[in-house]
Amino acid sequence: FTSNSLSGLDVVITAGPTREAIDPVRFISNHSSGKMGYALAEAARDAGARVTIISGPVRLDAPEKVTVIQVESASEMLAASLEQQKNCDIFIAAAAVADYRPLQVAQQKIKKAGEQMQIALVKNPDIVATIATLDTPPFVVGFAAETQDVATYARGKLESKNLKMIIANDVSNADIGFNSDSNSVTVFWGENQQDFPRMSKSALSNELIELIAHQYTVNSNP
Ligand code: C5P
Repeated sequence: FTSNSLSGLDVVITAGPTREAIDPVRFISNHSSGKMGYALAEAARDAGARVTIISGPVRLDAPEKVTVIQVESASEMLAASLEQQKNCDIFIAAAAVADYRPLQVAQQKIKKAGEQMQIALVKNPDIVATIATLDTPPFVVGFAAETQDVATYARGKLESKNLKMIIANDVSNADIGFNSDSNSVTVFWGENQQDFPRMSKSALSNELIELIAHQYTVNSNP
């Protein structure tokens, strides 16, 4: 597969989970593998872009000729994203950012005590919405993992987060999404939508990058 649809463009992709520290040895995280973000990075590179992944902790090798910036927490991912968006045409948020983080990070390992314990959490910043509402934002693409009413929730996030496009997948189906090597998605932009049937994350990424490149061009030359 070769294309030059992103030739000369800078693409930044967030990928993987974030880790939110509880104390020096514990954290809150999720099962995101990072596979979709990394597959998109390879597809964007193959389409001619200079690509940077801002990556939470994953078990994946850095793709050839792609810059990988390693982060742990949502706060670190936000700081790296704000820095990288300065030199970025297309920003794709594929990371599964933890919605909340512990209010306080204990400086020492928390000791076992009573039968119950509580950890107070505070909301993390919404990275993709922060980037998309900057004064001169890049072309911003988000993801929506939904278990019901996929179109309604995805369109809601497209609007509330100020995104140009959103890639929605139905995570109630265990065969696709998160840790799987294949995925099936519906992309929403403006009043439009396009369904992509189940295929490998790599084949799907090539198709998604072509659609994103096309919409980027339409958006830049209205
Ligand atoms: O609101 P929800 O988490 O479903 O939105 C998913 C989209 O928002 C994804 O593109 C994800 O990468 C992004 N996101 C983010 N920062 C957050 C939460 C989600 O960038 N704190």
